[in-house]
Amino acid sequence: MPADTVDLKSLIRTIPDYPKPGILFRDITTLLADPVGLRAAVDGLVWPFLSSGIDYVAGIEARGFILGGAVAHELGRGFVPIRKKGKLPSRTIGQDYSLEYGIDTIEIHADAIHHNARILLVDDLIATGGTAEAATELIRRSGGEIVAAAFVIDLPDLGGAARLAAKDVAVHTLVSFE
Ligand code: PRP
Ligand code: ADE
Repeated sequence: MPADTVDLKSLIRTIPDYPKPGILFRDITTLLADPVGLRAAVDGLVWPFLSSGIDYVAGIEARGFILGGAVAHELGRGFVPIRKKGKLPSRTIGQDYSLEYGIDTIEIHADAIHHNARILLVDDLIATGGTAEAATELIRRSGGEIVAAAFVIDLPDLGGAARLAAKDVAVHTLVSFE
């Protein structure tokens, strides 16, 4: 079934008050478990970048690993993990950031990206954009060029897509929850 005929939004479950009171958690596990939905989501993330000369797909732990790995496979490119602090075994560079419900640090292997490599950043969701902006910093500090950032879900009220655009990152999203 063509990606644009699948109602991705209806496959995403909303859990109120997780992980903190007041947060409407947009849960993609229901989308991931649906074979037609998963294929449509991955195809939807991939199609704008089929001819973009991407060298690597970078995915953000944890949900960005699931989607980013599939996107890299479909593009025929390698995958670079951006992980939470302390998880990568070789030399890393790190970046602190804040998100909708806390603060954290993400890291990338210092030698993961060659100079001027063209990177597609993938995650499941953009909310405040803190995580994706930190990942953008890591990619740029590594010498890479971020071609775009692609997400299944945008939460536009939290301003993340606009925040990334202000950093000259092209943003591609599939569904939004106002
Ligand atoms: C979620 C989501 C994004 C980030 C978006 O990850 O998968 O990575 O939050 O929020 P932001 O735009 O406000 O930065 P989370 O940190 O909850 O980690 P997880 O994927 O390990 O659950
Ligand atoms: N990451 C940040 N905000 C989120 C939300 N509302 N639902 C799921 N993941 C998130």
